[in-house]
Amino acid sequence: MSTTERRVAVVTGAARGIGAATAVRLAEQGRAVAVLDLSERDCDETVARITDAGGRALAVGCDVSDAGRVEAAVARIATELGPPLILVNNAGVLRDNLLFRMDEADWDTVMNVHLRGAFLMSRACQTHMVEARFGRIVSLSSSSALGNRGQANYATAKAGLQGFTKTLAKELGPFGITANAVAPGFIVTDMTARTAARLGVGFAELQESAAENIPVRRVGRPADVAGAIAFFTGEDAGFVSGQVLYVAGGPLD
Ligand code: NAI
Repeated sequence: MSTTERRVAVVTGAARGIGAATAVRLAEQGRAVAVLDLSERDCDETVARITDAGGRALAVGCDVSDAGRVEAAVARIATELGPPLILVNNAGVLRDNLLFRMDEADWDTVMNVHLRGAFLMSRACQTHMVEARFGRIVSLSSSSALGNRGQANYATAKAGLQGFTKTLAKELGPFGITANAVAPGFIVTDMTARTAARLGVGFAELQESAAENIPVRRVGRPADVAGAIAFFTGEDAGFVSGQVLYVAGGPLD
């Protein structure tokens, strides 16, 4: 394995769902992976999946919206694994509600985790990337960025991440750093399971009705998104930057 494949990747929100699948996928490519989530213990399962397969991983507990904790977490990753040159801003939460029922906490929580979190993590990691003259930043947007009923907060944050991505691509490009966004449609995870519970419908039923409106006639799996992230973080994707890739089983209206 070459030294470039052994580069260190940080995946936020990697205890479960898309983040866990991405951490495992990047480890399969030879990356050493910092598996970061709110609780360090919650990261153990993803870390075990990687280390059991012969890979290298570190569990890191950190709230991505907390500047001090982010700085400390990235410093620890740099010391224990090596300089983080690949960053996947995946941590996310939902606080869905129609506008007239959405309170300030619903708005602020979503902005803080998605936008402030991606900002803090990218700012902390770019120091290492600039020094190495290599970096890959991928942020999770969403098909909701195009507008979605009941998600004024989330749609705004996910659209914001697209502007953030394009700006990082321009600012950091001269240092060999790319920034791209992956925008999934319906993916089967705890997040969409919670949406089903909130709507009062069975998860299987929600998946079936969602699949009817998706051209490939199925809902997505975390591995579908991990594959796209693996491409953007790859060694040979250095000329692909500032892009938003919808991973949604078809084009979006
Ligand atoms: P999930 O709810 O299964 O996992 C999200 C993870 O983020 C959890 O492990 C959670 O603990 C962690 N997290 C939340 N707040 C955090 C914080 N402040 N600091 C650190 N970690 C934190 O969600 P899922 O479905 O895997 O989503 C991953 C990303 O993909 C999110 O950004 C989500 O918005 C986005 N996405 C998901 C879609 C889906 O259909 N599941 C569709 C489009 C985008």
